[in-house]
Amino acid sequence: MAPVDPHSYTDGAHPVTKHAALSFYLDFTASTIHASALLTLSEPHSGDLLLDTRAVSVHSATTAADPPEPILFSLAASPDPILGSALTLTLPPDTTSFHLTFSTSPDASALQWLAPPQTASAQPFVFSQCQSIHARSIFPCHDTPAARITFSLLLNVPSQLSAVAAARHVGRRDPLPSDHCGACDEALWCAPGRVVEEFEMEQPVPPYLFAFAAGGIGSRDLGPRTRVYAEGGDKVLDEAAREFAGVEDMVKVGEDLFGPYEWERFDLLVLPPSFPYGGMENPRMVFLTPTVIKGDASGAQVVAHELAHSWTGNLITNKTNEDFWLNEGFTTYAERRIVEVVQGEERAALNMGIGWRGLNQMMERFKDNMEFTKLKPKMAGIDPDDVYSEVPYEKGFQFLWRIERQIGRPAFDEFIKKYIAMFKFQSIDTETFLEFLKANVPGIENQIDLHLWVEGTGIPPDAMEPDSAIYKKICSLAAEFKSGKLPSEDEVADWNGQEWELYLENLPTDVEASQVTALDERYKLSESRDYEVKVAFLQLAISAGCKCYFNEVEKCLKQVGRMKYLRPLYSSLAKCSGEEKMLAQRIFSEAQEFYHPIARGVAESILSKHS
Ligand code: BES
Ligand code: ZN
Repeated sequence: MAPVDPHSYTDGAHPVTKHAALSFYLDFTASTIHASALLTLSEPHSGDLLLDTRAVSVHSATTAADPPEPILFSLAASPDPILGSALTLTLPPDTTSFHLTFSTSPDASALQWLAPPQTASAQPFVFSQCQSIHARSIFPCHDTPAARITFSLLLNVPSQLSAVAAARHVGRRDPLPSDHCGACDEALWCAPGRVVEEFEMEQPVPPYLFAFAAGGIGSRDLGPRTRVYAEGGDKVLDEAAREFAGVEDMVKVGEDLFGPYEWERFDLLVLPPSFPYGGMENPRMVFLTPTVIKGDASGAQVVAHELAHSWTGNLITNKTNEDFWLNEGFTTYAERRIVEVVQGEERAALNMGIGWRGLNQMMERFKDNMEFTKLKPKMAGIDPDDVYSEVPYEKGFQFLWRIERQIGRPAFDEFIKKYIAMFKFQSIDTETFLEFLKANVPGIENQIDLHLWVEGTGIPPDAMEPDSAIYKKICSLAAEFKSGKLPSEDEVADWNGQEWELYLENLPTDVEASQVTALDERYKLSESRDYEVKVAFLQLAISAGCKCYFNEVEKCLKQVGRMKYLRPLYSSLAKCSGEEKMLAQRIFSEAQEFYHPIARGVAESILSKHS
């Protein structure tokens, strides 16, 4: 056995899947997908082949010959809590493709099934979130970013719904008897009231970028290659179209900075509020939380981030989760370069300031587990969802910014373009990046301690706090809070969400409850429509022991399932003793049905850590 990735059973001595032809029958009543997959390997293979699965029931494995021959298979009896269950197939001599039929579990960790009363369209809804290691709960695969696949996908859905996927939409049509490939009975597949939405992904992608959604979804065109999709009807779509009007221009800015946009379309899907992330860079179809629509164009930052992944992450992909900073650190750097062009230097500096604060807070979070303050941490035996943090984003950003300062922006811009052109459609590790850096910037290892940056814990001494007038002003106002000074109406007159977020994040941690309520009485932060502001304020209020916001905290935890908000709220409640801890447990027991399985797992682990 030659492991390639601590999070996958993939054996490096064997070929990997290069293409998957998938037929999915979506059963909304049973929250189950009945599926078939024809998998094609990169080379012919005989004997054992291992695939990743989690909570998938495999019904059959056969050769692709006519007539098909059965293939021996076994599913590990007890699943590993992180990896799931290896599916071992014993392939006949020189097998290049084989066929599986299987069903997902209603608890599939990638999928959230919403019943009509839980959606804005009063129609059922389902969506996937595969990063980091959840694709295996949808179909057996080599679920490592070291391997890339192309795929075709047929989604059989009720005809009142429509479906989207991170792939080219071929069309919507009646189901054909030849489509189902054993996913379910032909009568079920072709039943009246069902349609097939057909997709094709011709560019090889890591399995974590596999994504689809189905529900009462409508759309609005934004530009020649950009469109926004959402459920909830005209009002939501109009708001979304207004919020994202600048997306086409952003794609052009990205192309100027990083080279051609290789994915043809850049569409956006606004998900129901339980979507567990701010955004997910699924190629051709970015998934977004509805909380980015605030009516003030600030959603642009999240879109800039997911767009930037089109180059850093989706074209060049981290080989394993230990190299995750290659995805997120590069993308955070790229995001800020895009923001700088479309929204100006001040805004970019503000984002850097929020990031700097976040990075420093992570040193506190991981003070007993400094491994996760490394750019390249050891991940064997670790669930990536448990240690997700700002470290790969902000320490990665700092590392690249440090290199930029050393060699100057023009040289660094040229380096990045060359890096992307060199490694596009490949999965690489940190060592490959460092070799490329040293080869293209001779002597860099004598100017920057690359080893300390990549392998060291903590924040290296040559990292830099951003330096801008507005950033410094906000930090000094936050420091004055301790002595009882609230910012004046004049001082905050032109603040929007990000200024408030930076201010709140920088307040001292040991503030008086009366001061927190005084701040809220003046500026109504607990009622903000901007969840970044609202959650930062509520977290402060919980730590300061203000009980008058429990109602607001409860509403918040029941309305939005984005983990960026669940984590700090549940953690601050659970850290307290008595009343707050019980509140957290009650809210979780009532809200968990509404969360995506990944978010449910994360909230559960926060509560059990403090129980
Ligand atoms: N790829 C990430 C989201 C992700 C990371 C999902 C790890 C699963 C595992 C995405 O690009 C991201 O970073 N989203 C951020 C956006 C923000 C940095 C602008 C988020 O969701 O908060
Ligand atoms: Zn990202």
